[in-house]
Amino acid sequence: MTVSAFTFAVDDGSTNVKVSWIENSQLKTIISPNSFRKDWKSAALRRDKKVYNYTIGTTKYTYDATSDKALETTHVDYQYDDLNLLGVHHALLQTSIEPCPVRLVVTLPITEFYNAEDCQRNEENIEKKRQNLMREINLNKGDLFEVVDVVVMPESVPAVLSTLMNSSCNEYTRSLVVDCGGTTLDMGVVVGEFDDVSAVYGNKEIGVSMVTDAARKALAAADSDASYLVANELIKRRYDMEFVREVVNDESQIETILTKIENKIHELGSAVAYEAKKFAKNPNRVYIVGGGASLIAPALKEAYATLGDRVVLVSDAQSALARELCMYHSDLDELEVAPESLIEVEDE
Ligand SMILES: Nc1ncnc2c1ncn2[C@@H]1O[C@H](COP(=O)(O)OP(=O)(O)OP(=O)(O)O)[C@@H](O)[C@H]1O
Ligand SMILES: [Mg+2]
Repeated sequence: MTVSAFTFAVDDGSTNVKVSWIENSQLKTIISPNSFRKDWKSAALRRDKKVYNYTIGTTKYTYDATSDKALETTHVDYQYDDLNLLGVHHALLQTSIEPCPVRLVVTLPITEFYNAEDCQRNEENIEKKRQNLMREINLNKGDLFEVVDVVVMPESVPAVLSTLMNSSCNEYTRSLVVDCGGTTLDMGVVVGEFDDVSAVYGNKEIGVSMVTDAARKALAAADSDASYLVANELIKRRYDMEFVREVVNDESQIETILTKIENKIHELGSAVAYEAKKFAKNPNRVYIVGGGASLIAPALKEAYATLGDRVVLVSDAQSALARELCMYHSDLDELEVAPESLIEVEDE
């Protein structure tokens, strides 16, 4: 293991790669959406638009934010394939650090990380993921980071590490952590201040992509075919009418499209709340993280109404896991300031 490598915490989700690192005693975070297609792009017309043409083995890929031919990453095998390798390297290039040898702390859905039956680490999956990220990849006309070591962590539960440490809970407190990502719903129950992870749950059918798919379908029906990225942006900015008008070509369809999106969000919330109640009936606290957190928070607040404000939508929910993993795995002794006073620079 190389000790001198720079550490990045990378929550490499299927739709977005979240990267956190420490630079000049500050915690920095970027979010890099996955949108790749096969073959290369020709040189950009504008100099300020960089082209990212990659090769893995003999296959050529390019980063293409708006292509409707973008390869789907919303399947669980994504964790071990070319697209994951591309997503991670591409995200690292979006940071302010120059390519150098790096140690990566990455994530696996909680049910891939642990065996479902006995909650033990699934070493086979962990190793498969490590090997995938150590594979050779090339960037045309550019340098990439050299991955010298990979540490794999589970999704969801570590996202509330420091929240729990600062929340005066006792050793019996049971906290339910709900991570609603693009493709999967991950949940875990943490006991005390992280004394134990007592149960894990994963569902590959429930995620924001339910809403994204509905949005894409509705857009296509209105002659406005859109990539995952654009559809997701529409979900996020559905109250911003100026943006909505830009995306929807047939304006007479706007109301129908927005209603379909709202209905799907409601359906997603109900599905999450139902699964959560089945999984953890009476937790003492509920923490909501992941990109879909704000979409499902109202449904969870209703499902756990008696907990009141102990149902918490974690701030900057989408990147919470990357930030926590970064704080946990970086050599904080080297910092001049206490971790709590690290200044967050969110720069999407
Ligand atoms: N504020 C927001 N409102 C609505 N949707 C959002 C918001 N922020 C992010 N999203 C959506 O959340 C999804 C991504 O969430 P996240 O980054 O947690 O997923 P992921 O980690 O890539 O997926 P998974 O964990 O399932 O592999 C995207 O569909 C994105 O558009
Ligand atoms: Mg995720």
